[in-house]
Amino acid sequence: MPSSPPNQLATESDFRFRCIACGHLGDSAGQDFRCAQCGDLLEIVYPRWRESMPNAEHLKSTWRTRRMSSSAIDRSGVWRFRELLPTLNNDEQPITLREGNTPLYELPRCARLTGMTRLFAKHQGMNPTGSFKDTGMTVAATFARRAGFRWVACASTGNTSASMAAYAARGGLHSLVLVPEGKISWSKLSQALDYGSLTCQLRTDFDGCLRLLQELVREAPVYQLNSINPFRLEGQKTLAIELLEQLDWQPPEHIIVPGGNLGNSSAIGKALLEMHELGLISRLPKLSVIQAEGANALVRTLREAAGKRLVSVQAETRATAIRIGNPASWKKAANVLEATSGACEQVSELEIAQAKAEIGAEGIGCEPASAVTLAGLKKLLKQGLVKPEETVVLALTGNLLKDPDYTIDFHRGELFEPKDEAADAAMKKLRRPPIVLDATLDAVIQTLERAEKP
Ligand code: F0G
Repeated sequence: MPSSPPNQLATESDFRFRCIACGHLGDSAGQDFRCAQCGDLLEIVYPRWRESMPNAEHLKSTWRTRRMSSSAIDRSGVWRFRELLPTLNNDEQPITLREGNTPLYELPRCARLTGMTRLFAKHQGMNPTGSFKDTGMTVAATFARRAGFRWVACASTGNTSASMAAYAARGGLHSLVLVPEGKISWSKLSQALDYGSLTCQLRTDFDGCLRLLQELVREAPVYQLNSINPFRLEGQKTLAIELLEQLDWQPPEHIIVPGGNLGNSSAIGKALLEMHELGLISRLPKLSVIQAEGANALVRTLREAAGKRLVSVQAETRATAIRIGNPASWKKAANVLEATSGACEQVSELEIAQAKAEIGAEGIGCEPASAVTLAGLKKLLKQGLVKPEETVVLALTGNLLKDPDYTIDFHRGELFEPKDEAADAAMKKLRRPPIVLDATLDAVIQTLERAEKP
C-alpha cells in the first residue's frame, strides 16, 4: 500500500512554544528551551487544532490504516500518530528507527500476587535502543537536523545518551554525551560508544551533568536533546496514544510510570489531556508517578511544599536510570498529576528488586527503574488509591539487558544486605543463582532432581 503523504491530515506548520508558568507564546525557542520572559520551561501547543483537527473517528481510522503501509514514516509507532505532533515539511523524512509499536503484555502472575483482576505492561524497553527514549528522540533529532545543527548533546543516566547517539548517527549528526562517571550501566555506555558519540564521563552526578549542559548550550552551537527539549516530550506522548489504540480506546483506570527527570510522566499526561480534549477518549485515566526512596524529589516536593517549589535531594539508588535529585520537569509532572488525579509514591531498594524479579519471572523482564511501577502499585493498592478490579497499565521504560549487573547481583544475593528476615525470605524465593557444575551427566541430573523437590 502506498504511504500517505507526511502531513495528510495536519494543517501547515501549526505549533507554538508556550511557557508553562507565565503562558508567554512564541514561534521559536532559545537553545536552553526556557521562556525568554520568566525562565520557566516551554511546552509545544497547537492553537489551530480546534478548527482544523479531523474528528476522532477519522483520526483513529487513519492511524489504523497506516499500520498496513510499508513506508518508514507510517511504520514508525511515533510518526503514525503525526497529527498530534509538530508538522514535518512536505518533503521532509523523519530520522526513524521504526520506534514505538511496543507490545502491551498482560501480567497474569503479577496480577495474582497483587490481588488485581487485570494488569498490563506497556513495554517501552522493546524500542530500537531498548528504552522509551527513542519515541522522543525521533522527533527531537529530526527537528535538530531541520534547525541546521551539526552537533546534538545530552546529559544522561544512560538511556537518553544511547538513544541520542543512535538517532544522531542515523541522521548524520555528531553527538556529545555527558554522563556521570561510574554511575551508569556498561550496557548503556557501550551503546553510546558503538553509535559513535563523543562520550564524556564527568566526575559528578546526573544533576551536575545537566547543569553543565545548560551552560554549554548557551556558549556553543550544540542542540540539547534532554527532555527539557519539548520536541522530545511530543514524541513520548505516543506511548499513551498507542496504548489507548491497543486497548480499543477504552481508557484504563490507572497508568503508572517511573519518575526521574520527570519528562516522561509529563509527556504521557499531556497526551492524555490532549486525547481527552480531542474526543479520542471519553475519560481520563489517573497517571501516577513512582520514585525510588533515595531519589524522591517529586514525592517531597508534593508532600513538603504542596507542589509549589522543588525540594531537591542528593540522589542515591541502584536503579541508576532514575538517580536524579533535581528533576527538570517537576512542575510539568506536578501539573499532570493534579489534572489526572494521580498519586506520587516512593519505593525502597528492596521493593524495587523484588518487583523486578517478579516481572522477570513473567518472562518479560525490565531494568530496575521500570520495576518501581509494580512496587508502587502494591503501595497504591494498600492505600486504596487503586482498587483490585480496576485496569492498571505499568509503563516499563527499559529493557532487562540494559543493566545485567543488577540482575546478576540480585540472583547471586549480592545486591544488598537484607535488613529483615521476611524480606530475605521473599527474595530467596525469587533468586535463581547460576550453578557451577562438573561437566557430567550425573551432576546435571542430580541438580534437576534437587530443583524438582518442593
Ligand atoms: N526509566 C528509565 C529506564 C529511564 O532511563 C529513565 C530516565 C526513567 C525511567 C525516568 O524517566 O526522566 O522522563 O522521568 N532516564 C534519563 C536518561 C534521565 O538520561 O536516560 P524521566
